[in-house]
Amino acid sequence: MSKKTVKDIELKGKRVFVRCDFNVPMDENRNITDNTRIVAAIPTIKYLLEQNCKIILASHLGRPKGEFKQEYSLQPVAKELSKLLGKEVIMAKDVIGEDAMEKAKNLKEGEILLLENVRFHKEETDNDPEFSKKLASMAEIYVNDAFGSAHRAHASTTGIAAYLPAVSGFLIEKELKFLGGALENPERPFVAILGGAKVSDKIGVIDSLLEKVDTLIIGGGMAYTFFKSQGYEVGNSICELDKLDLARDLMKKAEEKNVKLMLPVDTKIGKEFKEDTESKTVKCTEIPKDWEGFDIGEETIKMFSEEIRKAKTIVWNGPVGLSEFAQFANGTNSIAKVLSEMDAITIIGGGDSAAAIKKAGLEDKMTHISTGGGASLEFLEGKKLPGIECLLDK
Ligand code: 3PG
Repeated sequence: MSKKTVKDIELKGKRVFVRCDFNVPMDENRNITDNTRIVAAIPTIKYLLEQNCKIILASHLGRPKGEFKQEYSLQPVAKELSKLLGKEVIMAKDVIGEDAMEKAKNLKEGEILLLENVRFHKEETDNDPEFSKKLASMAEIYVNDAFGSAHRAHASTTGIAAYLPAVSGFLIEKELKFLGGALENPERPFVAILGGAKVSDKIGVIDSLLEKVDTLIIGGGMAYTFFKSQGYEVGNSICELDKLDLARDLMKKAEEKNVKLMLPVDTKIGKEFKEDTESKTVKCTEIPKDWEGFDIGEETIKMFSEEIRKAKTIVWNGPVGLSEFAQFANGTNSIAKVLSEMDAITIIGGGDSAAAIKKAGLEDKMTHISTGGGASLEFLEGKKLPGIECLLDK
Protein backbone atom coordinates (compact mmCIF):
# COMPACT_ATOMS: atom_id res chain seq x y z
CA MET A 1 0.00 0.00 0.00
CA SER A 2 1.32 3.42 -0.96
CA LYS A 3 -0.12 5.27 2.04
CA LYS A 4 1.37 5.42 5.51
CA THR A 5 -0.30 3.33 8.17
CA VAL A 6 -0.23 3.44 11.98
CA LYS A 7 2.89 1.29 11.74
CA ASP A 8 4.76 4.03 9.86
CA ILE A 9 4.46 6.77 12.47
CA GLU A 10 5.65 7.25 16.07
CA LEU A 11 2.56 6.96 18.24
CA LYS A 12 3.82 6.25 21.77
CA GLY A 13 1.70 8.15 24.29
CA LYS A 14 0.27 10.41 21.56
CA ARG A 15 -3.21 11.89 21.37
CA VAL A 16 -4.76 10.26 18.31
CA PHE A 17 -7.99 11.12 16.49
CA VAL A 18 -9.41 8.00 14.82
CA ARG A 19 -12.21 8.23 12.27
CA CYS A 20 -14.15 4.96 12.20
CA ASP A 21 -17.27 3.94 10.35
CA PHE A 22 -19.67 2.97 13.12
CA ASN A 23 -22.66 3.48 10.85
CA VAL A 24 -24.28 0.23 11.98
CA PRO A 25 -27.88 -0.96 11.65
CA MET A 26 -30.09 -0.74 14.75
CA ASP A 27 -33.61 -1.93 15.54
CA GLU A 28 -36.41 0.30 16.85
CA ASN A 29 -35.08 -0.08 20.42
CA ARG A 30 -31.63 1.06 19.25
CA ASN A 31 -30.08 -2.36 19.68
CA ILE A 32 -27.27 -2.92 17.21
CA THR A 33 -28.35 -5.66 14.81
CA ASP A 34 -25.00 -6.13 13.05
CA ASN A 35 -21.77 -5.13 14.81
CA THR A 36 -19.41 -6.09 11.96
CA ARG A 37 -18.14 -2.55 11.42
CA ILE A 38 -17.42 -2.13 15.13
CA VAL A 39 -15.57 -5.44 15.30
CA ALA A 40 -13.58 -4.41 12.21
CA ALA A 41 -12.30 -1.29 14.00
CA ILE A 42 -10.92 -3.22 16.99
CA PRO A 43 -7.43 -4.16 15.66
CA THR A 44 -6.46 -0.51 15.16
CA ILE A 45 -7.86 0.54 18.54
CA LYS A 46 -6.03 -2.31 20.28
CA TYR A 47 -2.77 -1.37 18.57
CA LEU A 48 -3.18 2.25 19.73
CA LEU A 49 -3.85 1.00 23.26
CA GLU A 50 -0.62 -0.99 23.12
CA GLN A 51 1.12 2.24 22.15
CA ASN A 52 -0.39 3.94 25.24
CA CYS A 53 -2.20 6.46 23.06
CA LYS A 54 -4.96 8.77 24.21
CA ILE A 55 -7.64 7.72 21.76
CA ILE A 56 -10.41 9.94 20.42
CA LEU A 57 -12.86 8.04 18.23
CA ALA A 58 -15.27 9.69 15.81
CA SER A 59 -17.95 8.42 13.43
CA HIS A 60 -21.21 9.30 11.81
CA LEU A 61 -24.42 7.29 12.24
CA GLY A 62 -27.16 7.65 9.65
CA ARG A 63 -28.01 11.00 8.12
CA PRO A 64 -29.24 13.32 10.92
CA LYS A 65 -28.82 16.35 8.63
CA GLY A 66 -26.79 18.60 10.87
CA GLU A 67 -28.80 18.54 14.08
CA PHE A 68 -28.85 16.56 17.32
CA LYS A 69 -31.34 13.70 17.23
CA GLN A 70 -31.34 11.14 20.02
CA GLU A 71 -32.04 8.25 17.66
CA TYR A 72 -28.75 8.98 15.89
CA SER A 73 -26.65 9.10 19.07
CA LEU A 74 -23.56 6.91 19.16
CA GLN A 75 -24.26 5.83 22.76
CA PRO A 76 -25.16 2.22 21.78
CA VAL A 77 -21.85 2.05 19.89
CA ALA A 78 -19.89 3.16 22.99
CA LYS A 79 -21.57 0.35 24.92
CA GLU A 80 -20.79 -2.25 22.26
CA LEU A 81 -17.19 -1.08 21.98
CA SER A 82 -16.70 -1.29 25.75
CA LYS A 83 -18.03 -4.83 25.65
CA LEU A 84 -15.76 -5.87 22.76
CA LEU A 85 -12.66 -4.23 24.24
CA GLY A 86 -13.38 -5.21 27.84
CA LYS A 87 -12.64 -1.63 28.76
CA GLU A 88 -14.58 1.56 29.42
CA VAL A 89 -15.20 3.81 26.44
CA ILE A 90 -15.97 7.33 27.64
CA MET A 91 -18.89 8.90 25.75
CA ALA A 92 -18.87 12.61 24.95
CA LYS A 93 -22.17 14.49 25.04
CA ASP A 94 -21.24 16.46 21.93
CA VAL A 95 -18.72 16.63 19.07
CA ILE A 96 -16.76 19.86 19.41
CA GLY A 97 -18.65 21.32 22.38
CA GLU A 98 -17.43 21.92 25.91
CA ASP A 99 -18.01 18.34 27.03
CA ALA A 100 -16.04 16.76 24.16
CA MET A 101 -13.20 19.26 24.38
CA GLU A 102 -12.90 18.85 28.14
CA LYS A 103 -13.00 15.06 28.01
CA ALA A 104 -10.47 14.97 25.15
CA LYS A 105 -8.12 17.25 27.08
CA ASN A 106 -8.34 15.16 30.25
CA LEU A 107 -7.78 11.81 28.52
CA LYS A 108 -5.00 9.75 30.05
CA GLU A 109 -2.75 7.31 28.25
CA GLY A 110 -4.67 4.16 27.33
CA GLU A 111 -8.08 5.85 27.67
CA ILE A 112 -10.70 5.98 24.93
CA LEU A 113 -13.21 8.72 24.20
CA LEU A 114 -16.01 8.43 21.65
CA LEU A 115 -17.34 11.73 20.32
CA GLU A 116 -21.01 12.13 19.46
CA ASN A 117 -22.19 11.68 15.86
CA VAL A 118 -20.10 14.05 13.71
CA ARG A 119 -23.11 14.58 11.45
CA PHE A 120 -24.90 16.46 14.27
CA HIS A 121 -23.03 19.38 12.66
CA LYS A 122 -23.75 20.19 9.05
CA GLU A 123 -20.17 21.41 8.81
CA GLU A 124 -19.16 17.74 8.76
CA THR A 125 -20.74 16.95 5.38
CA ASP A 126 -19.90 20.48 4.13
CA ASN A 127 -16.24 19.63 4.80
CA ASP A 128 -15.96 22.96 6.60
CA PRO A 129 -12.30 23.86 7.29
CA GLU A 130 -13.07 25.54 10.65
CA PHE A 131 -14.87 22.42 11.83
CA SER A 132 -11.98 20.22 10.64
CA LYS A 133 -9.57 22.47 12.51
CA LYS A 134 -11.59 22.13 15.74
CA LEU A 135 -11.59 18.34 15.43
CA ALA A 136 -7.87 18.40 14.71
CA SER A 137 -7.22 20.58 17.78
CA MET A 138 -8.08 17.60 20.02
CA ALA A 139 -5.17 15.47 18.78
CA GLU A 140 -1.63 15.21 17.44
CA ILE A 141 -2.19 12.52 14.83
CA TYR A 142 -5.10 11.60 12.56
CA VAL A 143 -5.85 7.97 11.76
CA ASN A 144 -8.49 7.16 9.18
CA ASP A 145 -9.92 3.67 9.53
CA ALA A 146 -13.37 4.41 8.14
CA PHE A 147 -13.23 2.51 4.87
CA GLY A 148 -17.03 2.60 4.59
CA SER A 149 -16.89 6.42 4.49
CA ALA A 150 -13.69 6.81 2.46
CA HIS A 151 -15.69 7.91 -0.60
CA ARG A 152 -17.03 10.92 1.33
CA ALA A 153 -14.98 14.12 1.34
CA HIS A 154 -16.21 15.26 4.74
CA ALA A 155 -14.53 17.17 7.56
CA SER A 156 -13.68 14.14 9.71
CA THR A 157 -12.79 11.85 6.80
CA THR A 158 -10.72 14.22 4.66
CA GLY A 159 -10.66 17.86 5.81
CA ILE A 160 -8.94 17.09 9.11
CA ALA A 161 -5.93 15.62 7.26
CA ALA A 162 -4.92 19.16 6.29
CA TYR A 163 -4.15 19.92 9.96
CA LEU A 164 -2.56 16.73 11.31
CA PRO A 165 -0.16 14.03 10.12
CA ALA A 166 -2.61 11.56 8.57
CA VAL A 167 -2.21 7.78 8.29
CA SER A 168 -4.51 4.81 7.74
CA GLY A 169 -5.59 2.19 10.24
CA PHE A 170 -5.45 -1.56 9.73
CA LEU A 171 -8.97 -1.85 8.33
CA ILE A 172 -8.34 0.51 5.42
CA GLU A 173 -5.03 -1.25 4.83
CA LYS A 174 -6.79 -4.63 4.70
CA GLU A 175 -9.60 -3.43 2.43
CA LEU A 176 -7.10 -2.01 -0.05
CA LYS A 177 -5.02 -5.15 0.07
CA PHE A 178 -7.94 -7.37 -0.97
CA LEU A 179 -10.03 -5.10 -3.19
CA GLY A 180 -6.96 -3.46 -4.74
CA GLY A 181 -5.15 -6.79 -5.09
CA ALA A 182 -8.07 -8.32 -6.96
CA LEU A 183 -8.21 -5.45 -9.42
CA GLU A 184 -4.51 -4.94 -9.96
CA ASN A 185 -3.14 -8.42 -10.02
CA PRO A 186 -5.90 -11.05 -10.03
CA GLU A 187 -5.24 -14.73 -10.27
CA ARG A 188 -7.10 -15.82 -13.38
CA PRO A 189 -9.72 -16.70 -14.40
CA PHE A 190 -11.17 -13.58 -12.77
CA VAL A 191 -14.97 -13.60 -12.50
CA ALA A 192 -17.15 -10.74 -11.29
CA ILE A 193 -20.75 -11.25 -10.24
CA LEU A 194 -22.89 -8.14 -10.23
CA GLY A 195 -26.43 -7.96 -8.99
CA GLY A 196 -28.74 -5.32 -7.62
CA ALA A 197 -31.80 -3.59 -8.93
CA LYS A 198 -30.56 -0.95 -11.31
CA VAL A 199 -28.07 -0.75 -14.15
CA SER A 200 -27.74 2.97 -13.44
CA ASP A 201 -26.20 2.22 -10.01
CA LYS A 202 -23.62 -0.09 -11.52
CA ILE A 203 -22.67 1.51 -14.87
CA GLY A 204 -19.28 2.66 -13.59
CA VAL A 205 -18.50 -0.72 -12.04
CA ILE A 206 -19.55 -2.71 -15.10
CA ASP A 207 -17.56 -0.41 -17.35
CA SER A 208 -14.45 -0.59 -15.18
CA LEU A 209 -14.67 -4.36 -14.57
CA LEU A 210 -14.98 -5.05 -18.30
CA GLU A 211 -11.36 -3.87 -18.54
CA LYS A 212 -10.22 -6.42 -15.96
CA VAL A 213 -12.31 -9.59 -15.74
CA ASP A 214 -12.50 -12.72 -17.85
CA THR A 215 -16.19 -13.25 -17.12
CA LEU A 216 -18.87 -10.86 -15.97
CA ILE A 217 -22.02 -12.44 -14.55
CA ILE A 218 -25.08 -10.24 -14.32
CA GLY A 219 -28.05 -11.08 -12.13
CA GLY A 220 -30.60 -9.23 -10.03
CA GLY A 221 -33.08 -6.63 -11.21
CA MET A 222 -30.69 -5.06 -13.67
CA ALA A 223 -30.66 -8.18 -15.85
CA TYR A 224 -34.18 -7.27 -17.07
CA THR A 225 -32.92 -4.00 -18.58
CA PHE A 226 -30.45 -6.10 -20.57
CA PHE A 227 -33.25 -8.44 -21.78
CA LYS A 228 -35.44 -5.53 -22.75
CA SER A 229 -32.52 -4.03 -24.67
CA GLN A 230 -32.46 -7.26 -26.71
CA GLY A 231 -36.14 -6.81 -27.55
CA TYR A 232 -37.66 -9.28 -25.07
CA GLU A 233 -40.82 -8.81 -23.03
CA VAL A 234 -39.99 -8.36 -19.31
CA GLY A 235 -43.53 -7.97 -17.96
CA ASN A 236 -43.63 -5.88 -14.79
CA SER A 237 -39.98 -6.61 -13.94
CA ILE A 238 -37.85 -3.68 -12.89
CA CYS A 239 -36.46 -2.12 -16.05
CA GLU A 240 -34.79 1.18 -16.87
CA LEU A 241 -36.11 2.15 -20.28
CA ASP A 242 -33.65 5.05 -20.55
CA LYS A 243 -30.72 2.67 -20.15
CA LEU A 244 -31.44 0.29 -23.05
CA ASP A 245 -28.80 1.84 -25.32
CA LEU A 246 -26.32 1.74 -22.49
CA ALA A 247 -27.04 -1.96 -21.86
CA ARG A 248 -26.44 -2.64 -25.57
CA ASP A 249 -23.18 -0.61 -25.46
CA LEU A 250 -21.97 -2.58 -22.44
CA MET A 251 -22.70 -5.86 -24.20
CA LYS A 252 -20.77 -4.62 -27.24
CA LYS A 253 -17.86 -3.54 -25.07
CA ALA A 254 -17.75 -7.00 -23.47
CA GLU A 255 -17.52 -8.55 -26.92
CA GLU A 256 -14.74 -6.18 -28.00
CA LYS A 257 -12.79 -6.85 -24.81
CA ASN A 258 -13.28 -10.57 -25.15
CA VAL A 259 -15.08 -10.73 -21.81
CA LYS A 260 -17.68 -13.46 -21.42
CA LEU A 261 -20.81 -11.62 -20.34
CA MET A 262 -23.35 -13.98 -18.82
CA LEU A 263 -27.01 -13.17 -18.30
CA PRO A 264 -29.62 -15.46 -16.70
CA VAL A 265 -31.40 -17.93 -18.97
CA ASP A 266 -34.37 -18.57 -16.70
CA THR A 267 -36.04 -16.54 -13.99
CA LYS A 268 -38.38 -17.10 -11.06
CA ILE A 269 -41.27 -14.74 -11.50
CA GLY A 270 -44.07 -13.65 -9.19
CA LYS A 271 -47.53 -12.15 -9.63
CA GLU A 272 -47.00 -9.38 -7.10
CA PHE A 273 -44.26 -7.77 -5.02
CA LYS A 274 -45.02 -9.66 -1.81
CA GLU A 275 -43.47 -12.44 0.23
CA ASP A 276 -46.01 -15.20 -0.50
CA THR A 277 -47.01 -14.24 -4.01
CA GLU A 278 -47.80 -16.97 -6.54
CA SER A 279 -44.60 -17.83 -8.42
CA LYS A 280 -43.17 -19.96 -11.21
CA THR A 281 -39.97 -20.30 -13.23
CA VAL A 282 -39.87 -19.39 -16.93
CA LYS A 283 -37.28 -18.78 -19.63
CA CYS A 284 -36.01 -15.19 -19.59
CA THR A 285 -37.29 -14.78 -23.13
CA GLU A 286 -40.81 -15.81 -22.12
CA ILE A 287 -41.80 -13.58 -19.20
CA PRO A 288 -45.60 -13.07 -19.35
CA LYS A 289 -46.85 -9.48 -19.46
CA ASP A 290 -48.36 -9.19 -15.98
CA TRP A 291 -45.64 -11.08 -14.08
CA GLU A 292 -42.47 -9.80 -12.45
CA GLY A 293 -38.99 -11.36 -12.33
CA PHE A 294 -37.61 -11.73 -8.77
CA ASP A 295 -34.81 -14.30 -8.91
CA ILE A 296 -32.63 -16.35 -11.19
CA GLY A 297 -33.93 -19.84 -12.03
CA GLU A 298 -32.39 -23.29 -11.48
CA GLU A 299 -30.90 -23.52 -15.00
CA THR A 300 -29.16 -20.19 -14.46
CA ILE A 301 -27.89 -21.21 -11.03
CA LYS A 302 -26.33 -24.29 -12.64
CA MET A 303 -24.81 -22.30 -15.48
CA PHE A 304 -23.43 -19.51 -13.25
CA SER A 305 -22.11 -22.02 -10.68
CA GLU A 306 -20.16 -23.93 -13.35
CA GLU A 307 -18.51 -20.73 -14.51
CA ILE A 308 -17.78 -19.52 -10.97
CA ARG A 309 -16.18 -22.86 -10.04
CA LYS A 310 -13.54 -22.33 -12.76
CA ALA A 311 -12.43 -18.99 -11.28
CA LYS A 312 -9.37 -18.26 -9.18
CA THR A 313 -10.55 -14.76 -8.20
CA ILE A 314 -14.17 -13.75 -7.68
CA VAL A 315 -15.59 -10.37 -6.80
CA TRP A 316 -19.28 -10.27 -5.93
CA ASN A 317 -21.40 -7.18 -5.49
CA GLY A 318 -25.18 -7.20 -5.20
CA PRO A 319 -27.74 -9.99 -4.68
CA VAL A 320 -28.94 -11.80 -7.82
CA GLY A 321 -32.55 -11.87 -6.65
CA LEU A 322 -34.99 -10.37 -4.19
CA SER A 323 -33.17 -12.07 -1.32
CA GLU A 324 -35.21 -10.45 1.45
CA PHE A 325 -38.17 -12.67 0.39
CA ALA A 326 -37.43 -16.31 1.26
CA GLN A 327 -38.92 -17.78 -1.91
CA PHE A 328 -36.72 -15.53 -4.08
CA ALA A 329 -33.48 -15.92 -2.10
CA ASN A 330 -32.45 -19.21 -3.69
CA GLY A 331 -30.25 -17.64 -6.39
CA THR A 332 -28.31 -15.45 -3.97
CA ASN A 333 -27.96 -18.25 -1.40
CA SER A 334 -26.82 -20.73 -4.04
CA ILE A 335 -24.11 -18.34 -5.30
CA ALA A 336 -23.00 -17.76 -1.69
CA LYS A 337 -22.78 -21.52 -1.16
CA VAL A 338 -20.71 -22.10 -4.30
CA LEU A 339 -18.29 -19.36 -3.24
CA SER A 340 -18.02 -20.84 0.25
CA GLU A 341 -16.90 -24.19 -1.19
CA MET A 342 -14.18 -22.77 -3.42
CA ASP A 343 -10.45 -22.75 -3.13
CA ALA A 344 -10.10 -19.30 -4.67
CA ILE A 345 -9.91 -15.66 -3.66
CA THR A 346 -13.48 -14.64 -2.87
CA ILE A 347 -14.18 -10.99 -2.26
CA ILE A 348 -17.58 -9.68 -1.29
CA GLY A 349 -18.11 -6.02 -2.00
CA GLY A 350 -20.13 -4.97 1.03
CA GLY A 351 -23.77 -3.92 1.24
CA ASP A 352 -26.57 -6.40 0.49
CA SER A 353 -24.36 -9.25 -0.76
CA ALA A 354 -22.35 -9.09 2.47
CA ALA A 355 -25.63 -9.21 4.42
CA ALA A 356 -26.72 -12.29 2.43
CA ILE A 357 -23.43 -14.07 3.19
CA LYS A 358 -23.80 -13.30 6.90
CA LYS A 359 -27.41 -14.43 6.94
CA ALA A 360 -26.29 -17.74 5.46
CA GLY A 361 -23.58 -17.99 8.15
CA LEU A 362 -20.85 -18.27 5.50
CA GLU A 363 -18.73 -15.22 6.36
CA ASP A 364 -15.81 -17.32 7.63
CA LYS A 365 -15.61 -19.09 4.29
CA MET A 366 -14.86 -15.93 2.27
CA THR A 367 -11.43 -14.42 1.73
CA HIS A 368 -12.67 -10.91 2.40
CA ILE A 369 -16.00 -9.22 3.05
CA SER A 370 -15.73 -5.49 2.59
CA THR A 371 -17.15 -3.17 5.25
CA GLY A 372 -17.85 -0.62 2.52
CA GLY A 373 -21.09 -0.40 0.56
CA GLY A 374 -20.81 2.76 -1.54
CA ALA A 375 -17.08 2.97 -0.86
CA SER A 376 -16.32 -0.49 -2.23
CA LEU A 377 -18.46 0.20 -5.29
CA GLU A 378 -16.57 3.43 -5.99
CA PHE A 379 -13.29 1.62 -5.44
CA LEU A 380 -14.31 -1.09 -7.93
CA GLU A 381 -15.22 1.68 -10.36
CA GLY A 382 -11.60 2.73 -10.20
CA LYS A 383 -12.40 6.06 -8.52
CA LYS A 384 -9.98 7.67 -6.12
CA LEU A 385 -11.42 7.75 -2.59
CA PRO A 386 -10.87 11.14 -0.87
CA GLY A 387 -10.54 9.57 2.60
CA ILE A 388 -7.55 7.62 1.32
CA GLU A 389 -6.08 10.19 -1.06
CA CYS A 390 -5.68 12.66 1.85
CA LEU A 391 -3.34 10.33 3.79
CA LEU A 392 0.43 10.67 3.80
CA ASP A 393 2.32 8.80 1.10
CA LYS A 394 4.84 6.22 2.22
C1 3PG B 1 -22.24 3.57 4.41
O1 3PG B 1 -22.99 2.98 5.21
O2 3PG B 1 -22.17 3.26 3.21
C2 3PG B 1 -21.30 4.61 4.96
O3 3PG B 1 -21.31 4.64 6.33
C3 3PG B 1 -21.56 5.96 4.34
O4 3PG B 1 -22.81 6.45 4.72
P1 3PG B 1 -23.50 7.59 3.86
O5 3PG B 1 -23.91 6.96 2.56
O6 3PG B 1 -24.65 8.10 4.68
O7 3PG B 1 -22.46 8.66 3.60
